[in-house]
Amino acid sequence: MNSITYRDNQLYVDNVALATIAHAVGTPAYVYSRRALEWNWQEFNQGFSPRTAAIRYSVKSNSNLAILALMAKLGSGFDIVSGGELERVIRAHGKANQTVFSGVAKSKKEIEFALKSGIFSLNVESPAELARIHITAKSLGVVAPVSVRVNPDVDAITHPHISTGLREAKFGVDFEQALELFRDAHHSEQLNIIGIAVHIGSQMTSLEPIIDALEHVIDFSEQLGEVGIEIHHLDLGGGLGVRYRDEQPPTIREYCSAIGEVLDRRNAAMSLSIEPGRAITANAGVLVTRVEYIKQTATKNFALVDGAMNDLIRPVLYDAWMDIVEVRQDHNIEAALYDVVGPVCETGDYLGKNRMLAIDPGDRLAVLGAGAYGAVMASNYNTRPRPVEILVDDEEFDVIRSRESIDEMLCLESIPDQLSPD
Ligand code: LLP
Repeated sequence: MNSITYRDNQLYVDNVALATIAHAVGTPAYVYSRRALEWNWQEFNQGFSPRTAAIRYSVKSNSNLAILALMAKLGSGFDIVSGGELERVIRAHGKANQTVFSGVAKSKKEIEFALKSGIFSLNVESPAELARIHITAKSLGVVAPVSVRVNPDVDAITHPHISTGLREAKFGVDFEQALELFRDAHHSEQLNIIGIAVHIGSQMTSLEPIIDALEHVIDFSEQLGEVGIEIHHLDLGGGLGVRYRDEQPPTIREYCSAIGEVLDRRNAAMSLSIEPGRAITANAGVLVTRVEYIKQTATKNFALVDGAMNDLIRPVLYDAWMDIVEVRQDHNIEAALYDVVGPVCETGDYLGKNRMLAIDPGDRLAVLGAGAYGAVMASNYNTRPRPVEILVDDEEFDVIRSRESIDEMLCLESIPDQLSPD
């Protein structure tokens, strides 16, 4: 479903022109479509039919409270990786008992908070962590629900920074160690085994690695069954890719039915969770930025815009190509090739390179596919306020995060007395 479309040469998010939003709230601005978010979530929710799967939206891809509240309203569960994310879920009226907690280095405080909140599962990633959960549960007098996150040594065929399922990655434990962890948990009165978890990477554009990992995990669960440990639940993680340029990722429905087919063929009677992030949020959002200047050098044209790497770090961090389009198409302007760069003092500060654009100073551009891992990875580098965030609901829009003020950026800092002026 395409929520971001041109009409009369104007770029719209559903029924609101981006120019109208930019005029009202300024730039840079993240703008998300409620309709697209709901549609994508529903595709996952219905995609496993007649089977059911618990959709646990991966909070890290876009953790704005309004987005989480929308997911909660749809009936979503959540995948979190910190106490902070759990706090967000709770404040957005999400349910802890539908939430899984992943992450390799959960602190004692985070484990306590999760257990007290009634988390659905702590996804364990090492023997030391299982021991810590055991002690913490004992001191609280509760039984901790745990899953073991296995590392199936499968190549996700994606950017190395977002590949998590290879033996050399810090994530999960290999099958041998997982067997030990399951044995320990099985014998502990303080631990309740929920199931197996696996997540091999993000922005996967082929089904093969996902299916491969699934087959390995089913093999392993059969092995566990042979030693008397029955596994009733499988958490398959997230990772389905989206189209930023010319990638051909499977559709959400294709992804779901491929998983369903393997479970059927293998006669696996386990219940299922998935943790999609990007496939729900990426193409539901854009980053709107304004052209401040145009600069021509001997070799290049630069579009100097007010959005920068602190607002959207994906291009330089992952060599990510994200489409950049005009918010208003003006056919009287001649198109030229531009590097779209921001005001931050780094050569890596670019949103896109070699883009054909018809622009003048003052025009606005939209970076597409920016709903996932955009605002959440923004920083105050160069003392720049993080962007405002907007949610479009058909013909209306709301500010769901205000642009930071200078006072908000500086309020946690202080100057020790001895450094005050004499
Ligand atoms: N579950 C676990 C345990 C994860 O580590 C992740 C993502 C997800 C689910 C959601 O994956 P998704 O469906 O969004 O692919 N910042 C990077 C992506 C990092 C992904 C980290 N883990 C980027 O901008 O490409």
